[in-house]
Amino acid sequence: MTHDLQRYTESNRAAWNEAMPYHQRAAKDKWDGRFAMPGYSCLAENELEEWQRFGLTGKAVAHLCCNNGVELMSLKNLGAGECVGFDISDAAILEAQERAALCNLDCRFVRTDVYAIDRQWDGRFDVVYITIGALGWLPDLARLFARAAMLLKEGGGVFIHEIHPLAEILPDDGKQEADPLRINDPYFKAEPWVDYGDLDYVGGVHYDSVLPQYGFAHPLSDVIMALIGSGLVVERFVEYDIDTSAGHKRQEGKGLPLSYILVARR
Ligand SMILES: C[S@@+](CC[C@H](N)C(=O)[O-])C[C@H]1O[C@@H](n2cnc3c(N)ncnc32)[C@H](O)[C@@H]1O
Repeated sequence: MTHDLQRYTESNRAAWNEAMPYHQRAAKDKWDGRFAMPGYSCLAENELEEWQRFGLTGKAVAHLCCNNGVELMSLKNLGAGECVGFDISDAAILEAQERAALCNLDCRFVRTDVYAIDRQWDGRFDVVYITIGALGWLPDLARLFARAAMLLKEGGGVFIHEIHPLAEILPDDGKQEADPLRINDPYFKAEPWVDYGDLDYVGGVHYDSVLPQYGFAHPLSDVIMALIGSGLVVERFVEYDIDTSAGHKRQEGKGLPLSYILVARR
């Protein structure tokens, strides 16, 4: 791994370890209660439609940047086969493992940088799943999708449900005084965003951190070209006027793409 890549991801690991107790204070009991109900899913309607089209029953799923596991657990409850979540945050993986045990869900969770997923997992999955707010933490998309392609069986697919990069350049709902349709940030930005704390979008607690966290602006063309460059074939791409980030509600209903689902096949 290059020095910069490792520096970014290790710093982000610390940031997510710091953020998770805030998220857990706000929502851990809620998720434990919900997943105690057989068959519970937290996935949005538009994503469920796309899973019906893709076919989920019995499929082996690798979820990259799985955080506390609730999306992967939902796929399991919807009929997926082997489910393995990978995330760099020790605290997120521990929460996911505890919930899987508590709610008797047959999902495994592995703490690792996605760029360093062990080779033992190669060729084991029908789906590599990437969701809401994951790509913006990852510095190198070409390397990400090259690793994702190796995890897939022949014919398997990468299923991405993400925040649209257009939404990311508009002011988030925390900036209530700003015109929601004004461009706040550049769409193209080679250097990382450097921030300190304030990752509690679940409970809304503001905090500062000592160590920086690094975010990355990925234009949609970079996502698509990185998939193509990894030998994957883009087979479906849908844009939605639906805020999946929970931070851009003010832009809903204004005719802008706020999220997308993209499927690419090995
Ligand atoms: C905003 S969460 C998105 C996950 C999920 N969709 C959610 O809504 O909870 C971002 C996750 O990416 C993880 N992450 C960031 N960089 C990573 C890396 N290099 N390898 C693995 N996980 C990473 C973080 O630990 C965090 O759990």
